Amino acid sequence: MKIPLLDLTKQYRSIKQEIDQAVMNVMEKGNFVLGEEVSLLEQEMAAFCGARYGVGVNSGTDALLLSLMAYGIDRGDEVITTPFTFIATAEVIAFLGAKPVFVDIDPKTFNIDVKKIEQVITKKTKAIIPVHLYGQMADMDPIMDLAKKYNLVVIEDAAQAILAKYKESYAGSIGHTGCFSFFPAKNLGAYGDGGMILTNDEEKVERLKMLRNHGSRVKYHHAILGCNSRLDEIQAAILRVKIRYINSWTQERKRIAQGYNESLSDISWLTIPFEEEWNRCVYNQYTLRSQFRDKFQKHLTEAGIPTAIHYPMPLHLQEAFSFLGHKKGDFPESEKASSEVISLPIYPELTDEQRKAVIEGIRYFKVE
Ligand SMILES: Cc1ncc(COP(=O)(O)O)c(C=O)c1O
Repeated sequence: MKIPLLDLTKQYRSIKQEIDQAVMNVMEKGNFVLGEEVSLLEQEMAAFCGARYGVGVNSGTDALLLSLMAYGIDRGDEVITTPFTFIATAEVIAFLGAKPVFVDIDPKTFNIDVKKIEQVITKKTKAIIPVHLYGQMADMDPIMDLAKKYNLVVIEDAAQAILAKYKESYAGSIGHTGCFSFFPAKNLGAYGDGGMILTNDEEKVERLKMLRNHGSRVKYHHAILGCNSRLDEIQAAILRVKIRYINSWTQERKRIAQGYNESLSDISWLTIPFEEEWNRCVYNQYTLRSQFRDKFQKHLTEAGIPTAIHYPMPLHLQEAFSFLGHKKGDFPESEKASSEVISLPIYPELTDEQRKAVIEGIRYFKVE
């Protein structure tokens, strides 16, 4: 049986007529940049995720970058985040000449260990970027308490976490901004790059909109320096079709994760994902950990079961961040996670037969 790690064509085929129509409508109208589709998607995303405003941008990376810029993060400032994430989270901090200050993760949730944040706050600290990794939200209450106490900006990296919940709040609705990615592999994926900033901060909405469009409010008049970071009208039209399915797709991901959990929880050499009781994880990834990870992955590859490693090297050990002067051992939980995590195929279109075949393949693995 063929089991792709991710099958985007199956989803497209299931909604082909609606998608094709939406794309054609944009072409018929002939308005390709910052038109009606982007505005409507901004309103719909905000309403879906319990925030007041949305600003469509060209990627999750730029959602983070523009958020930092809107709050004036600049050269010499420090921004706290986790080293166990995709590089974009910390890359944008360094791009602005600010310093990423890493805090190790909680090994159970893979998210920033909130107990370790306060000890790295200095006079230069301006912001915290918690990442809701794999679709499970970071522990936001203590983060928001610290932000209040030290007057810090909180930018949620919700790239993997659309519709994830922390207590009663959706991902991206708690911090000063919430940053989403519409990269095709995300739970709400475009057919190309895209991103969205959510915020309740009315004052910053206009600034964010200017920053994504060369600092311009009125055409050819530039009040500030910005970027070209606009969300494409065709992608917005596609996303407006897909957003209507996101609730049922999310439920399907949760059902698949539950199925994996039930079948794998008795295996002593594997740890299944831990979900905080007050969290709703949306499983952008279904990630196990095992001390035998490399041998286990080889076994699965040979059995025709694709897997992925999110992520094989924590950011403090990446060559691109060598200027920060970190060494092995600085963030031991992140380093251990990098050597132990392995993600299984998970997407709404994965069939029960495919899931069972994955489980069977896992059960054939012998540790010795
Ligand atoms: C945690 C995290 N942050 C940021 C990003 C960046 O998003 P994008 O690829 O849309 O720029 C991604 C996605 O790749 C991500 O997974």
